[in-house]
Amino acid sequence: MVMEAAYKDYREKEPFFPPGPRGLPFAGSMFDYFRDMLGFLVRVKEEYGDIAYYKLGARKMYLLSNPEDIKDVLITHNRNFTKSRALQRAKMVLGEGLLTNEGVSHIKQRKIIQPIFHHKRIRGYGDTMAEYTRLRTQHWENGSVLDIHKEMMRLTLAIVTKTLFDADVESESDEIGKSLTNLVNLFPRLLFPYSEYLDKLPLPGNKRCEDAIEHLDKIIYGLIEERRSGGTKREDLLTMLLEAQDSENPNDDEDGSTMSNKQLRDEALTLFLAGQESTANSLTWTFYLIAQHPEVENRVHEEVVSVLNGRLPSLDDLGKLSYTQKVFKEALRLYPPAWAVARRAIEDYTVGGYLVAAGTDVFMSQFVVHRDPRFYKEPLRFDPDRWTKEFESSLPKFAYFPFGGGPRRCIGEPFAWMEGVIIIASTIFDWKMRLVPNQKIVPDALITIRPKNGMKMIVEKRV
Ligand code: HEM
Repeated sequence: MVMEAAYKDYREKEPFFPPGPRGLPFAGSMFDYFRDMLGFLVRVKEEYGDIAYYKLGARKMYLLSNPEDIKDVLITHNRNFTKSRALQRAKMVLGEGLLTNEGVSHIKQRKIIQPIFHHKRIRGYGDTMAEYTRLRTQHWENGSVLDIHKEMMRLTLAIVTKTLFDADVESESDEIGKSLTNLVNLFPRLLFPYSEYLDKLPLPGNKRCEDAIEHLDKIIYGLIEERRSGGTKREDLLTMLLEAQDSENPNDDEDGSTMSNKQLRDEALTLFLAGQESTANSLTWTFYLIAQHPEVENRVHEEVVSVLNGRLPSLDDLGKLSYTQKVFKEALRLYPPAWAVARRAIEDYTVGGYLVAAGTDVFMSQFVVHRDPRFYKEPLRFDPDRWTKEFESSLPKFAYFPFGGGPRRCIGEPFAWMEGVIIIASTIFDWKMRLVPNQKIVPDALITIRPKNGMKMIVEKRV
């Protein structure tokens, strides 16, 4: 809600903020925050409640943990917010792709791209997902130890490369993977106050990032040129992007209804980055939870055997794999890969009687809300059975929001569900997994939550 004048006068005399940690002079809570972002947010919510306030350097941050307040920011008053500073800074990598684009241009691009992610259009990719899982797990040896995080990164990279670019980059994929990793590693720095000054320094990280962008640009522009020059008709997302038009303004090039090469590059790189990392991490955490719950693993296996009868899963099987879906859903609750969404207020805004001054960042953390005992009984327990129809309908909107919400809700959600369930089903059909004992699994909040030191598992082939 935009502030009324009287309230504004009051603020100018004596601004007041919600409760929160005092932090240190100048630094605020910066050290606590960057030491352990997830732990910090959980503590702030526990100690200070649904509307809390902290500072990172000179930056003022609000943490909102009440689903109603989150809904107001993401839906009801979404026009009063832009993406946060970190995502604005991500434009230097992603340009004006969907994730970073704003305003009228975002609405237009979203309208053009949305139909591509309709179930009907992506259904064919289900076969690729199942087939690629089979190919990846064929490399596994009975009783061997592997880093399941690395495996999932490789698998989702191969899938996104195939579905987006119709390219089989097994030989090149390590190079592409490295370039993507270098870009992803840059993101936490985007959150640091004053980090824009670091961009200009000759740091090794900057050089790695520039090289990664150059490498990926070369590949993507090459693929765009290949599609534009005709030749083999491909069924990939890039071709769909290339052919996509604003249905209200077809053939209106003046209006930019078909995308320029630069816009295509930005959208493709965004989908490439968003489509790989988040899904790989969601699956890594799903297998982490499954590996510690053999009874869940057995039920998934039973379901997969009875529904698939030995064949590879497809989109049509998703509805029938209802327990597997619940497992994925519960894993996305406990380890939501996108652990927070952030917005910056354009104009002054009030929440719970507190002022959010224009320019302030508002943080809404899935990691925090998904573990709130008001919404989830025994919130830290991995319990796929909690997801009954009755439970779902009693849950407040935004008590569960792994894919965000409102006009900026994840466009790849149908793709992610299909990929998640198909990879779980295809893997558990053949394999049992156990965590290697005594390793320290530390969730690390980068763009998405990943295990800091990887995740070692022993894989056993089912007979
Ligand atoms: C488990 C997997 C995934 C999770 C948890 C996830 C989560 C999210 C979230 C929370 C947002 C909203 C960010 C915000 O409001 O600031 C988002 C946006 C987005 N996601 Fe995903 N995502 C996943 C998979 C994917 C996939 C597979 C793709 C593409 C193939 C994708 C593409 C995008 C794009 C383009 C946006 C920006 C949409 C817009 O602003 O219009 N995501 N995602």
